[in-house]
Amino acid sequence: APAPKRVLVTGAAGQIGYALVPMIARGHLLGPDQPIILHMLDIPPAAESLEGVKMELLDAAYPLLHGIVATTDVTEAFTGVDIAIMVGGFPRKQGMERKEVMGKNVSIYKAQASALAKFASKDVKVVVVANPANTNALVLKASTEGNICPKNITCLTRLDHNRALAQIAERLGVTSKDVKNVIIWGNHSSTQYPDVNHGTVTLADGKEHNIRDAVSDDAWLNDEFIKIVQQRGAAIINKRKLSSALSAASSVCDHVRDWMLGTAEGTWTSMGVVSDGSYGAPAGVVYSFPVTTKDGEWTIQSGMLCHYQSSSDVSNPLGWTAVRQDQDEGDEDEGDGDGGDE
Ligand code: NAI
Repeated sequence: APAPKRVLVTGAAGQIGYALVPMIARGHLLGPDQPIILHMLDIPPAAESLEGVKMELLDAAYPLLHGIVATTDVTEAFTGVDIAIMVGGFPRKQGMERKEVMGKNVSIYKAQASALAKFASKDVKVVVVANPANTNALVLKASTEGNICPKNITCLTRLDHNRALAQIAERLGVTSKDVKNVIIWGNHSSTQYPDVNHGTVTLADGKEHNIRDAVSDDAWLNDEFIKIVQQRGAAIINKRKLSSALSAASSVCDHVRDWMLGTAEGTWTSMGVVSDGSYGAPAGVVYSFPVTTKDGEWTIQSGMLCHYQSSSDVSNPLGWTAVRQDQDEGDEDEGDGDGGDE
């Protein structure tokens, strides 16, 4: 068997953490043959709860789980990790200004970035889940300058990608495995653009069809579909009174697994990555693009200009100005009218 990989989950005592750690221990993150040493970090008020999660992980007797580090010490948590899944953060509470939450998360992500740079494996792969995910990833990148390759810092938009696949599959009565190559552009927030224009679906005839042709309802695709995906996080909060957790956890596994093990031939996925200026997204910002992956490296899929857009949109296919004004996206208030994410 290969040597164990160290996988860190921050905020591991939280809701996503509780759904995520068993998936990792089952092999959903790095495949069924890769032994794991799980590092779990949380803050002192959650220390006991974290200890309880550790006890349950032991009780589940996962064959792949070769060790558990459950700690509130940042240095211990980050030491030697190969994969860092950043779920921990300060949630926006009622009555708090968005700026205030951002400020708190900036300090957390700066501190954790320096621990990452000092103590993690030099080739550590990072996925930021905590909102505002794009911004937290940007802060993390800025604070690891020189020590962690910017290409190794990503944020999660795979949940949005999966939500888009699932909506198309539901609509056409197929499974999500039959749908491929949707794209999430932009931020993990209600400003994202879920794009089906390059996607295909395999129907009962066994043939691949363009999603637009198969759905045959542009009005739905251009309006309701986009809103459903953009506002799905808020819709889950309305029903569950808690934000998405099992779907977020499952999407984290998809994100990391595809990144490390590669996307299938002819298929891309969506990841928030550091922009190289592609598609007019300013170089250096963390932005969700279509990417293909191979052996732990992602590549932005080029040549995706959307031929369904009007000519005025083509000069600025992503509506960048609007996105940038909303860069401080994040955990929108539920029911504040513009939907928002988790
Ligand atoms: P939660 O509140 O249940 O868990 C967060 C955990 O982080 C808590 O246990 C808390 O003690 C811990 N924490 C706080 N500060 C920390 C720090 N400095 N270091 C380590 N741990 C710390 O929240 P939940 O539901 O698990 O969500 C976590 C984050 O993920 C939220 O920011 C949420 O908005 C975001 N999210 C992102 C999604 C995405 O697709 N990118 C989807 C769903 C949620």
